[in-house]
Formats: sequence, C-alpha cells, structure tokens
Amino acid sequence: MHFHIITIFPSLFNSFLSESLIKKAINKGVLKITVHDLRKWTSDPHSTVDDRPFGGGSGMVMKVEPIYKAVNAIKTKNTKVVLFTPRGKRFTQNKAEQFSKEGNIIMICGRYEGVDARVEKYIADENISIGSYVLMGGEIPAMAVIESVSRLIPGVIGKDNFLETRVGKDGRFTEYQQYTRPEVFSPNKGVNWKVPKTLLSGDHKKIETWKNKKKKEVK
Ligand code: ADE
Repeated sequence: MHFHIITIFPSLFNSFLSESLIKKAINKGVLKITVHDLRKWTSDPHSTVDDRPFGGGSGMVMKVEPIYKAVNAIKTKNTKVVLFTPRGKRFTQNKAEQFSKEGNIIMICGRYEGVDARVEKYIADENISIGSYVLMGGEIPAMAVIESVSRLIPGVIGKDNFLETRVGKDGRFTEYQQYTRPEVFSPNKGVNWKVPKTLLSGDHKKIETWKNKKKKEVK
C-alpha cells in the first residue's frame, strides 16, 4: 500500500512517520508513505497555492492548478484520489476496510478556508470528512485515515485481533474492557480500583462469557 500525501506543511508528518508501528511498517516494506510539498507544483516566484474567493467572502481558497498538476504527476493506473474536507462523506471503519484493499491512495490536504470546488468535482474520487467539526486542514485527517487503514494491512500490527472489531448500532465500538497489572491500584489511601475477579480466575469459559457481556456495555 502506498499513501501519497499532498500538503503545504510536509514537516507536520515528520514525527508521525518516524515513530511507532507506522515507522516499523515502512521499514518492513509493507507500507510506503510519500509526503509531497504542493508548492513544488507552483510556477510563480512566491509559490502561491491560494487566492481570494470569487464572489467575495472571507479567507483564502486553495487553487485548483497546483493540485491538478500534483495529482497528475503522482497518479498511476490504480490510484484512489481522496480530498479531505469537512463537506465530505463521513469516514468509517467500513471505509477504512475498503481503502486497505487499494494499491495507491493520494490524499489532498486542504488548508485555508477551503479548496477550489473543482478539486472535489473533477479531481478527487472521494471527498472525506473525519467528523462533524472543522479542523484547520486535512493533515490530521490524513494521519487518522492512514492509521486506521494501515492497521488493517497484514504485517502492520502484530496480531490479527483487528478482525474482532465490531460496531454497534450507534456507531460505537463494542470491545470488551482490558486490564493489566496491578490487580489492585490505589490512587489514594483507602481507594482501591480492582480488576474484575473473573479475569483473574483462570476459568477460560467464564472469561469468554464475561468478555461477551462486556462487549455490549459502554459507559
Ligand atoms: N478539513 C477540515 N476539517 C475537516 C474534517 N472534519 N474532516 C476532513 N477534513 C477536514
């Protein structure tokens, strides 16, 4: 899987790419991530990527031309082009599963007050929002999508436990609570936060029943 990120802030991705499981997956060769500076595809001395909106309005709009040139330069035969925008379709676990089967994904990170609408109309295959709130740009959404898609790619995380992921009717994940040592944690004198007894019982049947019951309970 090869992710291409188009951004005007490439250095935002430095630590994201050089830590943790993402870094390991890149080193193992199961994941490839290339960050592209959009300004590379500008042709004026100021490397302009934005301009005032037609029809007036506050803020600046990202220009279509550099984005068009960037996507054209990066795109190969099997490439999905995604634009991050709060106007997009909501990103879900199902969408993460779909994306994990793609070979190449280009992610366009919008900034300023928006992106020229011709990008979503003519260039992007999918317009994606990660939630009903407005961020300052598409870089955090790109990282969120990369994390959720990458963990579905074989070899990225150790175990295959992601197969157990289930979503409830309300869109919340129904996974049982997990605990680790100590069995009793005392944040203050006389206060004891305990691990449920069943989990310490060693009785696998009981533990399984407990886990199934807890999957249905969310705070
Ligand atoms: N850009 C700004 N806000 C966003 C959001 N919620 N999802 C995707 N891209 C965005």
